[in-house]
Amino acid sequence: MVKIAPSLLAADLLNLQKDIEDVEESGAHWLHIDVMDGHFVPNITFGADYVKAIKNFTSLTCDVHLMIKQPEKYIPSFAQSGADIITVHYEAVTHLHRVVQMIKDHGAKAGVAINPATNVESLRYILEEVDLVLVMSVNPGFGGQKFITNSIEKIRHLKSIMPDKRGVEIQVDGGVNGDIAKKLIHAGATSLVAGSHIFNNKDRKKAIKSLQN
Ligand code: DX5
Ligand code: ZN
Repeated sequence: MVKIAPSLLAADLLNLQKDIEDVEESGAHWLHIDVMDGHFVPNITFGADYVKAIKNFTSLTCDVHLMIKQPEKYIPSFAQSGADIITVHYEAVTHLHRVVQMIKDHGAKAGVAINPATNVESLRYILEEVDLVLVMSVNPGFGGQKFITNSIEKIRHLKSIMPDKRGVEIQVDGGVNGDIAKKLIHAGATSLVAGSHIFNNKDRKKAIKSLQN
């Protein structure tokens, strides 16, 4: 069954606790936390303390998406804050293999994200090492953007080069809604991130369900 990861970027900042409880009760599997630095992407969001506060409150897997330059500087603090999965961007890192090892050495699962214009083939020689690959289906930085259609083809391609039996999660993030989810799951996605689709909907249960079918 595909894992649904609501993106807290679209949650109500002043009612975060309520929104987290709501998606937890509505069947979400993970919480997706978008960390932005104003350098790698043109927006600034949360730091490790935010993850710590959430982790103290929820039993859901904290899936931390680092959209920051030099993520290696911050991996220890995010891991100590309780991040279960730490995903770094291929485009933000010079020594990707080393950074992936570093995440695992700190006890978290390691993910690598690629931007819409990055070829999945660039990840071929790191697939043996990672726990998750995140295919961005919008340019990272903001919620509520339009899904870039060729991401579906990228998922298919990624699945075809994935080493057998490793069980690497294939995650998609950006502009995901019910209609798109169906195509993504069919192409091989195992985890879907959704911000606006879930939090802009009063009935979170229905919104989450619509992504799974
Ligand atoms: C974009 C973030 C996404 C974003 C998704 O940079 O990585 O996680 O919150 O939001 P929606 O689902 O609204 O596109
Ligand atoms: Zn994200």
